Amino acid sequence: MTKPVYILNGPNLNLLGAREPAIYGRDTLADIEALAKARAKALGLAIDFRQTNVEGELIGWVQEARTAASAIIVNAAGLTHTSVALLDALQASELPVVEVHLSNIFRRDSFRQHSYVSLAATGVICGLGAKGYELALEAVRGILDKTTAA
Ligand code: DQA
Repeated sequence: MTKPVYILNGPNLNLLGAREPAIYGRDTLADIEALAKARAKALGLAIDFRQTNVEGELIGWVQEARTAASAIIVNAAGLTHTSVALLDALQASELPVVEVHLSNIFRRDSFRQHSYVSLAATGVICGLGAKGYELALEAVRGILDKTTAA
């Protein structure tokens, strides 16, 4: 049995749907989870989809992923721009990491244009809304196929 892809979501993403819809869209996190589940199934991947508002909990999940997951898709939300500790955990995981943001962080405030997470990421998808999670799963499929074929 192949290990699941952990899809980890950070602070305030539980408010999607109601939170600044002009920036983040109308999809709720449950809508995104359903979309990701369907896409994962079609790609032959299992997912474990989680959200937390607590930095330490997110770091704990990344540590857990080291042995329990095949890859990590992460939208660290505000922690993207602040958390060296999360970066350290992602680097320690030695897993493929795909970073996702719903909004295009490069068209926004200057403090959002730096990501600690990117230093640990194989790739970054931003600005494409919920679709970004589906694209991240496609990317993970490709990465895993390459590593197992080698
Ligand atoms: C976000 C972008 C971050 O800058 C912001 O703090 C979020 C969401 C996104 O998905 O666009 O909470 O990660």
